[in-house]
Amino acid sequence: MRKWHDDPFTKKARKEKYEARSVYKLEEIDQRERVFEGVNRVLDLGAAPGSWTQYCLKKLSQPQAQIFAVDIAPLGFSHPKVIFIQKPIEDIDLSALVGTEKIDLVLSDMAPKTTGVHDTDVARSFDLASVALEAAKRFLKPGGTFIVKLFMGESFEEYRNLLRQSFKDIRVLRPESTRKHSREIFFVAKGFKESP
Ligand SMILES: C[S@@+](CC[C@H](N)C(=O)[O-])C[C@H]1O[C@@H](n2cnc3c(N)ncnc32)[C@H](O)[C@@H]1O
Repeated sequence: MRKWHDDPFTKKARKEKYEARSVYKLEEIDQRERVFEGVNRVLDLGAAPGSWTQYCLKKLSQPQAQIFAVDIAPLGFSHPKVIFIQKPIEDIDLSALVGTEKIDLVLSDMAPKTTGVHDTDVARSFDLASVALEAAKRFLKPGGTFIVKLFMGESFEEYRNLLRQSFKDIRVLRPESTRKHSREIFFVAKGFKESP
């Protein structure tokens, strides 16, 4: 149903047949950081309703390309290149999903249901981002890229330091389509250093 207060990005997403306005965050990150070069296999955490997955499908033209997607909520579509599991990330055996071949790009747009209590929301976001980082460390190819959402708060520096241990280059972005009052930021971590 159309709502009078839909913002321009929501309207654009509807017109361009994307599942959500979130797509424009990934699009901007990609335009600025060129994160899809040479990418064939993507792990998309917090994928529902699926606009980031749709963007990946647009960018991954190779016939063998695959996207492994996870969310508690359902994906709005199915596609032969997308393998989707509807479960909390904490309950999934990701190696059974992804297999033995490594991943080029790990995305995490996971966000907790907000409570309005700043410390609680920031802590839950940190927990989800930490689970995503563990998945990235386990499944990324050396040199691979990790994009992760985090609610800005006291744990920002701690998380950045964790990323520094495993990635060569770390950027922090706040895409233009991020809602004004949202405290989310995105880390783009490139050049995964495989653990010794
Ligand atoms: C901002 S939405 C993702 C939007 C998505 N990237 C898109 O473009 O359509 C955040 C998602 O994180 C998911 N999420 C939150 N906690 C999760 C968990 N523990 N495991 C998996 N997904 C989770 C939510 O269900 C929600 O769909």
